[in-house]
Amino acid sequence: IGLFRPMMREVSECDMRVTVNKSCALAAQTFMIAMAAEGYDTCPLEGFDSKRMKKLLKLPHGAGINMVIPCGIRDGEKGIWGERYRVPFDDVYHRL
Ligand SMILES: Cc1cc2nc3c(=O)[nH]c(=O)nc-3n(C[C@H](O)[C@H](O)[C@H](O)COP(=O)(O)O)c2cc1C
Repeated sequence: IGLFRPMMREVSECDMRVTVNKSCALAAQTFMIAMAAEGYDTCPLEGFDSKRMKKLLKLPHGAGINMVIPCGIRDGEKGIWGERYRVPFDDVYHRL
């Protein structure tokens, strides 16, 4: 095995998109945590019109948008429109 031979199997274009999106999501989360530390609220969204968003931001046609993160300051209880749902912690966290 050569020293510089890539040791990963995930090499298709689809696999690379997944990998890039994972990295972007981590960067997005870091941004959200940093905003919270500065007293701002954020809300990740993936339900948006990507065509219009790319046009608005003057991004190339082939660009991919990982997510949109609106930022602001919460409007207290008035800013909550409906019942909030949280997946039970034990359903998503398993200690091995
Ligand atoms: C990657 C990602 C994308 C999301 N996209 C949407 C979306 O398009 N529309 C939406 O209503 N909520 C979306 N959500 C959920 C909201 O960000 C938010 O968590 C949800 O509205 C619940 O709000 P709450 O956390 O204040 O209870 C998304 C969450 C994540 C992590």
